Amino acid sequence: MKRTPKSTARKSAARRGASKAPRGNRGSAFPPAVKPGEAVKVAAAKGRPMLVWVGKRPLTRVTAFPAQLIEQFSVCGSAETRKPWSDWPSAYPTGGLLFHGDNKEVLAHLLANGFRGKVNLIYIDPPFDSGADYVRKVSLRGATGSAKLDGERYTLGEQIQYTDIWANDNYLQFMYERSGLLRELLHPAGFLFVHLNTDRSHYLKAVLDEVFGAASFTNEIIWKRREAHGDTKGIANVHDVILGYASDPGTTLLRHYVSYDQDYLDSHYTQTDESGRRYTLADLTAPGPRPGLNYAVRGVWPPPGRVWAVLPEKMEKMIQSGRVVFTAEGRPRKKLFLDEMPGMPVHDVWTDVFPINSQALEATGYPTQKPEALLERLITIGCPADGLVLDCFVGSGTTAAVAQKLGRRWIGCDINKGAIHTTAKRIQAVIREQCEAMEKRRAEGAQTSLLEAPYAKPQESSTPPQLSFSVWRVNDYDLQIQHDEAVNLACEHIGIERTRADAFFDGTLGRHLIKIIPFDHPLSPVDLEELRRELDSRPDEDREITLVCLGIEIAARSWIDDWNRLRKGKNAANRLHVIELRSDETYGSFIRHEPAQANVRITRKDGRVTIAIEDFVSPSIVTRLRQQAGVLQPKIDDWRAMVDCVMVDAAWDGSVFNVALSDIPERKSDLVKGSYEIDVPPRPTTVAVKIIDMLGEEVLVTRKV
Ligand SMILES: C[S@@+](CC[C@H](N)C(=O)[O-])C[C@H]1O[C@@H](n2cnc3c(N)ncnc32)[C@H](O)[C@@H]1O
Repeated sequence: MKRTPKSTARKSAARRGASKAPRGNRGSAFPPAVKPGEAVKVAAAKGRPMLVWVGKRPLTRVTAFPAQLIEQFSVCGSAETRKPWSDWPSAYPTGGLLFHGDNKEVLAHLLANGFRGKVNLIYIDPPFDSGADYVRKVSLRGATGSAKLDGERYTLGEQIQYTDIWANDNYLQFMYERSGLLRELLHPAGFLFVHLNTDRSHYLKAVLDEVFGAASFTNEIIWKRREAHGDTKGIANVHDVILGYASDPGTTLLRHYVSYDQDYLDSHYTQTDESGRRYTLADLTAPGPRPGLNYAVRGVWPPPGRVWAVLPEKMEKMIQSGRVVFTAEGRPRKKLFLDEMPGMPVHDVWTDVFPINSQALEATGYPTQKPEALLERLITIGCPADGLVLDCFVGSGTTAAVAQKLGRRWIGCDINKGAIHTTAKRIQAVIREQCEAMEKRRAEGAQTSLLEAPYAKPQESSTPPQLSFSVWRVNDYDLQIQHDEAVNLACEHIGIERTRADAFFDGTLGRHLIKIIPFDHPLSPVDLEELRRELDSRPDEDREITLVCLGIEIAARSWIDDWNRLRKGKNAANRLHVIELRSDETYGSFIRHEPAQANVRITRKDGRVTIAIEDFVSPSIVTRLRQQAGVLQPKIDDWRAMVDCVMVDAAWDGSVFNVALSDIPERKSDLVKGSYEIDVPPRPTTVAVKIIDMLGEEVLVTRKV
């Protein structure tokens, strides 16, 4: 018979717990006593802390797609830059870069095209996993609104800008992948700031610690973003969290000062000298002993264990210049004048940056827009004067606009066309203002460079490195209607039940899993290979699968036939079906989008071209208005109420839109002009006019003149 060794017997006794407790403890809830000197077993650590979620997989490989140039903006008619950008990939024009696409693909594209290790500061403000659909209120232009019903102004209702409904695991995987790509783009002395709310920041801290290494963590900034109002949980949540990481743990942020709080000033700067200067008194001792600093000042020695902070000669100079005050005990104290102080070194609780309200001048109407002051501070402390700033969740373009104002280079990206449109509009306005300010200074005879930044902080001799920017597309996301909206409509049309908890599949239809192929391209073998990879990671998935697409490539059809051939029989798992919305017998009536139309007269006279927009109609806008008006018919007096902006290219090459003129009224109450004159080359040229309506739909009219 095998004997149980003593130590093992003791361990199992311990495991059995109270039943083997010493007599006095029998039946009590106390754990068994451990004899002095005996080791208490502690489970071995598994490794560095790591967050685990269902479906966690490292991003080891990602396909880099090419980018297409869509639009080029040289707002002041000059693409001139201050100095050559020696570190800039030659494939790109020097200037701001705005990418339309999923940031996973855009970041992969940047990595594959020369931007690895080039970005000095990354700020991202990703969707928060808030369970919300973010909407933008869309209205017509005009003083009181040209569309009226009994004198009332219409709005076009709300347009979904992006959807923020995720299951927790998907959200973490989404952020994990983007964080890894961002780390690769970051300069060795660069910084990342991730803006989050308090529901998710602790998860993301763990993810970022894993991706960057915990030693790279620099700060958790608390941004008080609103005042307290009634909260169901008792204590109102008024702050967001911004997590900071350095590429290299040894790098520190740039020094930055903010104004003192009034409370601090009132409690510290209580004294005023004869000329009215406010000052406070500072200690003039230091820990001792230190050579040369232990001496008597006007017969008074430093306190025990301490020395004076300055050498005798300096002390005497300070006394002579009236910088020293003697206390009742004769101890010297130094006067610190408020007007000589740089301010309070920036700390990690920010209560002095106010959120955007609807009346704010910088408000674009884009949901979740962040204040420029917040980005101004982050860019100032995290990015050198000529550095490169990246925001791959750029939204309304706050980061790009502030980078442009502060003389930094910038790259922005968003998946949402509304965001790209809003950002492009905003940056044009910033550059235009910069150009006007420079022109003014030039006219006043100031000896400043034409490209000196009107916004540059006095301590930075920065100049805007760029007065131009370009818009690129990675993959074709240029949909006539917003993708999310299109998916929602398609689901409604077919009767698909949306599944928010699945990162890959969009919903179910009876026993079928549904995958909606983005409507910007026909179903292709690339989509099908992605599906195969997904199914490989779900070996237990046995449902049939229906792919919903607008059209299908021939190669994809034979791919599906081959796949299904291997899955014969009633109970075969994962057979594939396709609903092709353009031609499907049952669901084919889905596509009924009537594009907007414009009537534009373009005529040449000598070296100038006159453009007159005579009419514009957007069936989508009219339909929306009609839906809201019910039985009454809305009336739009002036077509310009439907138009957000007009852009003109004087020499359209058929692919890239070079913006030679843009008409973007600053206020919602203003209308576009509708008629323009522009210089054109003497030879025949194609003039292109792009009209973008209030829903973001574009109409392009071209004429050879
Ligand atoms: C919270 S908003 C950013 C707001 C921005 N900071 C501002 O001040 O306007 C998040 C943005 O991320 C975009 N977004 C969400 N998923 C994305 C993705 N996969 N790729 C690129 N952009 C994405 C959304 O369209 C939205 O504009």
